[in-house]
Amino acid sequence: MASAIATDYTNEVKVSPEVASFSPEVLAEINAHVAKYPPDRKRSALIPLLLLVIHREHGYVDNAGVNCLAQKLEIQVQDVWETATFYSMINMHPVGKYHIQVCKTLSCRVRGEEEITEHICNRLGIHAGETTPDGKFTVSRVECLGSCGTAPMMQIGFDYHEDLTTEKVNKILDSLK
Ligand code: FES
Repeated sequence: MASAIATDYTNEVKVSPEVASFSPEVLAEINAHVAKYPPDRKRSALIPLLLLVIHREHGYVDNAGVNCLAQKLEIQVQDVWETATFYSMINMHPVGKYHIQVCKTLSCRVRGEEEITEHICNRLGIHAGETTPDGKFTVSRVECLGSCGTAPMMQIGFDYHEDLTTEKVNKILDSLK
């Protein structure tokens, strides 16, 4: 198997003019968020809306979702892209039930991130940036998650797992059903 960490996570997507039609419930929540801001400051709702769409729709924001949010906020599509692709917590494509984000930045890198990532990928039989065929796990290598003092670390869902060793990783993966 080629190095499991050869491929990095990317937010690459296909651009098209399609506009998402979110559920009435999500649209109502979008409108409620937008209403919190003055009409000329609607764009301030962008990050809350991106997170809302991710958590209430399919776990990610696609091109059609980006177009819809740009319309709702009356901003340029590229403004949505700039923000959405900057943050690794904004998924731009489908991810598994468990999205394992391993920090690859300096502190984690020098304290063994590559070994941890390779171990995870070997256990799951995928490369970084890929999802297991059963849709259960996605592995991504991301920038600093702000827990440098407990490197190496990873985030799964909303949970941080710190001071990682391969043994600790095994226990964590075994606990994920
Ligand atoms: S360098 Fe890994 S959490 Fe900051």
